[in-house]
This record gives sequence, C-alpha cells and structure tokens, in this order.
Amino acid sequence: MKLLKKGAEADLYQTKWQNSKVILKIRKIKTYRNSSLDSKIRKQRTIKESQMLSLVKSFGIPTPLVYFVNLDKTSITMQEIPGTPVHDLPESKIIELSKDIGKLVGTLHKNGVMHGDLTTSNFILSKNTVYVIDFGLSQTSIKPEDHAVDLRLIKEILNSAHAKIMLLSWKNFLNGYKSVVGHAYYSKITKLVSEIESRGRYAQVV
Ligand SMILES: Nc1ncnc2c1ncn2[C@@H]1O[C@H](COP(=O)(O)OP(=O)(O)O)[C@@H](O)[C@H]1O
Ligand SMILES: [Mg+2]
Repeated sequence: MKLLKKGAEADLYQTKWQNSKVILKIRKIKTYRNSSLDSKIRKQRTIKESQMLSLVKSFGIPTPLVYFVNLDKTSITMQEIPGTPVHDLPESKIIELSKDIGKLVGTLHKNGVMHGDLTTSNFILSKNTVYVIDFGLSQTSIKPEDHAVDLRLIKEILNSAHAKIMLLSWKNFLNGYKSVVGHAYYSKITKLVSEIESRGRYAQVV
C-alpha cells in the first residue's frame, strides 16, 4: 500500500483490489476533538461521502465507484481515477475546464446537492472527463443560500490559488453554471454571493 497524500482530514493510499487500482481514504483521529464526538464526525462524513459519491452518479456527475465502506476504520475503498487534479493543470487548461466545472456544480445544485468543499483539487481530469471527489462535507440542500456558499468558496479558491487566471476562469465557470441552472436561478445565486461578500466576513474578491 502506497501513501498518496496525507490530508488535513484523511490519509489517502493507493492499493490494489482484485487487480484494479483503488484508493483507500481513511479519516484520521483528531485528538483535539472530544473522542466520542470525533468518532461520530468521522463516521458521519464517511457515510455522507460514500452515499453522495453514488447518488450524484444518477444525475450524470462522474465520480469514483465506491467498493467498500468500513465504518469502524472510517475508511472508503474507491476506484482510482487516473489523471490530474485540476489544481495542478496548466493555467490555460484550468481556464478551459472552468466551464465544465461550472456545469458540474450547476448539475449538483439543480439536483439539490451542495458539495461543501469546492476546491480545484477536488476535480480530477481523466482523459477528457472531469470527475468530482471529496463529498465528506456535502449535503442535500435546495436552499439558494447553501448554493451561494459553494460558489463563494470556489470563487475564493480561484482568487487565491489561481490569481492570474481568476477573471477568465470565473467568467467561464459562471457561464457553465448558468447554462445548467438557467438565467433566473443564476441571477439569484450570484446576487446572494455578492451579499455574502458585502457582509464583510469575507472580502469581495473582484
Ligand atoms: N478516487 C481517486 N482517484 C484518484 N485520486 C484521488 C482519488 N481520491 C482522492 N484522490 C487524490 O487525493 C487527494 C485528496 O483526496 P480527497 O478525497 O480530496 O481528500 P482531502 O479531504 O484530504 O482533500 C485528491 O486531491 C486527489 O489528488
Ligand atoms: Mg480534497
């Protein structure tokens, strides 16, 4: 078993199952949390992530297949998606893919799912398909405010991690998003994003 990534919340291993390459994601014990609360949170996120990875497939969102869930170990064994996280792609490619990412997020929202952790590391380009991963903080929600929080986060990520291409990628993201949710909903959500920004807890990024 090869350690692929030590994340803040989970360790990711690359391993094999019946000759297929799989990813083992194990949520780690957090000693700063009360231990029964910690175990509850880890279990909850493991359940949520595995359920959502499967649920969103039914709306046509590409996600890794879930093979096993072990709640005692708070681990998920899933299909390895061969490819590159969007975060690590060349800037011109990120600009181009932002439209697809906008469409994916629009499709999630249209079907009542908030991702909860929209960063460019949570999209993997594999051949010509963008996969969505990391659903541990997702929730079913049709609340426009929740959808606006998703957009605000990805906007902030584009601004901080991809500052040079922020304006172009954000424009493409919004076009992709609008093409799926429709003009009226798009206007409503972008207005809410401005409202979140003007509340001052967050600075406006453009
Ligand atoms: N199914 C997968 N196939 C390929 N790479 C993956 C897969 N799941 C996770 N990864 C890689 O591991 C990284 C961290 O996984 P992620 O589920 O996002 O955990 P974290 O909560 O630490 O962000 C991803 O950004 C991606 O590079
Ligand atoms: Mg992640």
